[in-house]
Amino acid sequence: MSYPWLRGDGRLRHLVTLEHMPRAVLESLLVQAQAMHDADPRILRQRLVGRTLCNLFFEPSTRTRCSFQLAAQRLGMDVLNFDLASSSAGKGETDADTLATLRAMRIDAFAVRHSDDAAATQLASQLDAADSVLINAGVGRTAHPSQGLLDMLTLRQAKGDDFSRLRVVICGDIRHSRVARSDIHALSVLGAGEIRLCGPRNLLPDSDEFAHCPRFDRFDDALAGADAVIMLRLQRERMAQGLVASREDYFRDWGLDPRRLALAAADAIVLHPGPMNRGIEIDSQVADGPQSRVLQQVRNGVAMRMAILWHLLADD
Ligand code: NCD
Repeated sequence: MSYPWLRGDGRLRHLVTLEHMPRAVLESLLVQAQAMHDADPRILRQRLVGRTLCNLFFEPSTRTRCSFQLAAQRLGMDVLNFDLASSSAGKGETDADTLATLRAMRIDAFAVRHSDDAAATQLASQLDAADSVLINAGVGRTAHPSQGLLDMLTLRQAKGDDFSRLRVVICGDIRHSRVARSDIHALSVLGAGEIRLCGPRNLLPDSDEFAHCPRFDRFDDALAGADAVIMLRLQRERMAQGLVASREDYFRDWGLDPRRLALAAADAIVLHPGPMNRGIEIDSQVADGPQSRVLQQVRNGVAMRMAILWHLLADD
């Protein structure tokens, strides 16, 4: 399957999706991010001085927006945070015009978050004519590639770089989750041993999507011997009403608590992209427990976004 977002030299032109990304590119981003993670911040400071990142967020965000800002600043970049609430978008300006306006101010990179699945592809094509890069910071239900990459970095730190032995469980509202899709795409590129999907039937993707991933009707069965468990938030804002019975029922069937986690491998790790709904998809004892990597994911988010900016903007 060809991957359309490459430059002639094999590097990425934009970061739109992890689906079918060449494995060498994905692995090089993981290696670069680990180097950023380990580096003395004073050394990185000068790397992208004079370049500007615009955080163009049409949807709310805490972790992603803050970590793109910090990543850019730690590389010496200027950052413009586009504030939707006080912008002209409410006056009827199209997204394309908003982008063109900001582009005219000589922005080098746009991190774009949007509710529309097609937004990243459309805005990346618009930027092709200009000399700016687009980074998908989470669109619709389809893709959140920087999150998928930071999740892979977190897995790699705990389990090493041979993903073929890993049994990874993804649990919850996969149907509405761009994080789950990017995780599945990345795990597939990296040749993960098993990608187990589980959650309420009506919150799983259609059966022809991810046909290579086994599905489980009971969370306990999916957890048996697992090396990593990725928990997802119930995305009520993207669902039709009534898809989920009650918080209590959801937690009983799909919540990760210490008893359930004990079914996984003894050294299994737990991931959650945040924001977490404690007591709905995850118990606090697990979220704050020794197997949780939730805050490591947040830390890795900055390093990974530095690696992405460097990969896309470095001159050499
Ligand atoms: C996620 C998102 O917005 O897609 N959060 C994040 O970026 N860390 C997941 C979510 O909203 O549940």
